[in-house]
Order: sequence, then C-alpha cells, then structure tokens
Amino acid sequence: AYDASPFVPAGADLDALRDAAAGCHGCPLHRDAAQTVFGTGDASARVLLVGEQPGDQEDRKGHPFVGPAGGVLDRALAEAGIDPGGTYVTNAVKHFKFEPAARGKRRIHKAPSLREISACKPWLLEELRSVAPEVVVALGASAGKALLGSGFRVGRDRGVPLALPAGMGEGTLVATIHPSAVLRADEVGRAEMYGGLVADLRVAGRLLG
Ligand code: URA
Ligand code: SF4
Repeated sequence: AYDASPFVPAGADLDALRDAAAGCHGCPLHRDAAQTVFGTGDASARVLLVGEQPGDQEDRKGHPFVGPAGGVLDRALAEAGIDPGGTYVTNAVKHFKFEPAARGKRRIHKAPSLREISACKPWLLEELRSVAPEVVVALGASAGKALLGSGFRVGRDRGVPLALPAGMGEGTLVATIHPSAVLRADEVGRAEMYGGLVADLRVAGRLLG
C-alpha cells in the first residue's frame, strides 16, 4: 500500500520532518510534482490549518497557500480575527496532483484519492504532534477526510467544533469549505461562500478565547 511512514523520522522536530519529507516516495505523486510542499508557519501556533494539496504555484515555490487560494484564506482569517501570521499552514497531501491541459502548458488540479490522503497522513500526524495546536481547521473535503475519515461531509460537518480522533492531540477541530471553492463560485454565489468561510473561521477563533 502507499505509505509515507518509512520516510518519517521518529520524534523529529519540524525542520527535520521537512527535510525528510523532501525525499518521500510514499505514493506516486512525487514523480510528476516539482517538490514536496511541507507545512510552514509558527511552530508553536495555536491554530493549525489543513488544506488539500499544493496547487500550481505552491508546487513551483515550495510553500503552502502562496497562490490565489492563499490570498482568499489570509483575507478570511484576518476578517475572522485570526492573525494569519500566527498560524501554521499545511496540506493533507504534500505533493501537487495534476493532469496536463489538453492543449497548452497549464496543469489542471486533480483531487487526491483516499489512498493518497491516507499514504500522506503520517506527515500530518507528525505536524499535529509537533505543533500541538489548540484549534485545527480543516479546509474542504480532503482535509476533513484526512482528519476525520472517509465519512466526513463538509456540508454537514462544517462550522461546529468537533473532537479530534485519538492520536491527533488535544485540539478541537472546525471544518469549513476550501478557499478555492470561493474562487470557483460564480459572481452570485461568491459573496455568500466567502461569508460562510469567514463565519466558520470565527467559530474557530472563538475557541481561542
Ligand atoms: N490549495 C490547497 O489546498 N493548498 C495549498 O497549499 C494551495 C491551494
Ligand atoms: Fe509522500 Fe505525501 Fe508526496 Fe505521496 S504525496 S510522495 S505520501 S509526501
């Protein structure tokens, strides 16, 4: 089975984990992506945010949420009263999954499979252990599945504090939509989607007191 575990050093700090993840071959996604995109941010953050996987720009630059979705996320966090600079940001899957566009050089994002999400989960568990956040925010369905299992449904489970499963620390989970969903929405739906994202992030922010 696909599994990152053989590549994960035991009890390592974030910098050592990041170095080790650069060489992960736990699933086939490392083959076509430019690099591993490990989490970044405040190593003792009270809020840890989990996205799906790096996008095109993240794959090129090597850092999570540095493209358009990151812009939406930072704006929504600030509006919800959470300082983006005080968070730790990562993804359920650490390599960019894509297919080439039918014509041209564009790379089209593909959702990771449950097998890939589960293969990459050991890295996420180590990030949770090392950062030990009070609040974990799942951004979208892939993050929700990584954290809560394949039964997660974002429409049903978003915006309410949930217990994290055993082995994921003492933090409380709040799920919301993926910021990319705001960018994909049409003009009519966009404001409402963004408002929902901010409202869910406020729920997370209130947990910090
Ligand atoms: N979308 C994600 O889920 N993560 C990123 O890092 C960028 C876009
Ligand atoms: Fe390893 Fe995750 Fe990359 Fe797969 S996606 S190769 S498990 S780091």
